[in-house]
Amino acid sequence: MITSSLISSVREFAKVDGPMETHQLIANEAGQKISQLLHADPNIVLLGTLLMDCVIGIAIQENRMAEHVSMCQHKAKELLDQDPDITPEEKNNVLACVLEHHGVPKFTTLESEIVCNSDCYRFASVKGFYYSLRYFRQMPDENFISLVKVKFNEKRNCVTLDIVKNELKYQFIAIENYLNLLK
Ligand SMILES: [Fe+2]
Repeated sequence: MITSSLISSVREFAKVDGPMETHQLIANEAGQKISQLLHADPNIVLLGTLLMDCVIGIAIQENRMAEHVSMCQHKAKELLDQDPDITPEEKNNVLACVLEHHGVPKFTTLESEIVCNSDCYRFASVKGFYYSLRYFRQMPDENFISLVKVKFNEKRNCVTLDIVKNELKYQFIAIENYLNLLK
């Protein structure tokens, strides 16, 4: 069983070294909405969206971005192992969500696919893109534009669910047009 106290403690943990708060909210909200539409387990998806990048701040600081998925999965396991109520199946499902959040040829579970698709809203929806622009605004122009472009393309290519493709298709065009006009 996934208790509210586990969710609260994971939420608190993710605030420290996780992504910026607005991006976490965007991914969490998307995950909950898609879970409802596809009848998935919303608590697994919530833990997945909270934990998928839970120590990304440390990975950036230590210049280990390429390892961030395994770092986050390791930390997620450590946190979940301390909880007496979560079942082994639930734990494995959440860990799959973290491990597969950048996409895989075949997702282990529906919840894992939903978490990966929810992550895409952070950089490839108009709202998520807007917050990226605000967050990275201190960077030199050239680095900043290429970073948001790389993240947008990466996340657009990770979308697999039809409902997400349909919701975001016009937003992809809007963001792409905006990026082209910045050239
Ligand atoms: Fe990630």
